[in-house]
Amino acid sequence: MTPRKTLPILLLVLMTGMAPARAQEGAPLSGERVFQLFCAVCHGPAGKGSPFGKNLLTPVARSMSGADMEKIILEGRPEKGMMSFSTLGKEELKGVVAHVRILQGMGALEGTGAEDAPATDTATTGTAATDAAHTTEGQRLFEGAAGCATCHSVFLRGGTIGPSMDQLALRMRAEELREALTEPSKTITEGYGTKTAILPGGRRVQARYRNETPETLQLLNETGDLWTTYFKKDLQELVESPNSLMPADAFTRLTGPERTALMKFLATLD
Ligand code: HEC
Ligand code: HEC
Repeated sequence: MTPRKTLPILLLVLMTGMAPARAQEGAPLSGERVFQLFCAVCHGPAGKGSPFGKNLLTPVARSMSGADMEKIILEGRPEKGMMSFSTLGKEELKGVVAHVRILQGMGALEGTGAEDAPATDTATTGTAATDAAHTTEGQRLFEGAAGCATCHSVFLRGGTIGPSMDQLALRMRAEELREALTEPSKTITEGYGTKTAILPGGRRVQARYRNETPETLQLLNETGDLWTTYFKKDLQELVESPNSLMPADAFTRLTGPERTALMKFLATLD
């Protein structure tokens, strides 16, 4: 563990100990108080982030639905450094989401509905408004017509066939991104290489693989949720595939404006 990571973990232990005590005191804490007590240490007092927690003012965080935000707070993302706050009372939970909305400049009401729509930005004008429109349009395409979410997730929403798009903007430069989108097979993301195999029973598949030994390997099914172990001797054919599972025209078949909107959306994923 790096020294940088020790502090929040210590705080985590302290805070998770504190949460139930607070919840039992009767009067629920205000959303602002909950945020300052439990969230500011990682997300910063104004929500702008710190080395331990994400900036909550990004377009993506702003476009997250109230329900999704509640889910993240209740369940946490332990593997990513955010613990769960399952001990918060219902009002405290709504309150802290509303406070995040205020920090995001969106007004408390937008954060309180369980099924509220993605953020619409009322305050921006000019290019900022155009950017916001692109972002929303891009996300809509990603999750809808362009089909990306069938294979890729953003904030745990979407498929698992391809890599998660979370923090994409941090790990890919514009050029690399353009190449990944227009020529998926040129460079295959590590861990997402595939083999073509003929399964016992005769079905031919192109599948992701892992845990390969001289005798066995595991193949992932088409829906991306089940790894099955096969003996190589039972597979009639097994060869490394040169092709990405991402359709070569997934991106290029879109119109120019659609591509621009999608690129803008992907650029916000940090
Ligand atoms: C120990 C540090 C820590 C604390 C405390 C913490 N968070 Fe987080 N939070 C994180 C990290 C790290 C992420 C990014 C997780 C990821 O990448 O999936 C995150 C993600 C989020 C997200 C999703 C943002 C996005 O763009 O993906 C929201 C919303 C959020 N936190 C709200 C809160 C609230 C509200 C609290 C207080 C009740 C809180 N967090 C407390 C570390 C923390
Ligand atoms: C049928 C599943 C599938 C669809 C649909 C799909 N992708 Fe992919 N995508 C993959 C797989 C698998 C990989 C990893 C292999 C590779 O590098 O090509 C990938 C890789 C990527 C990468 C590189 C990510 C990284 O971390 O290296 C990006 C960016 C990407 N896809 C974006 C998109 C976008 C945007 C769309 C929608 C226009 C889309 N994909 C549609 C399966 C898919």
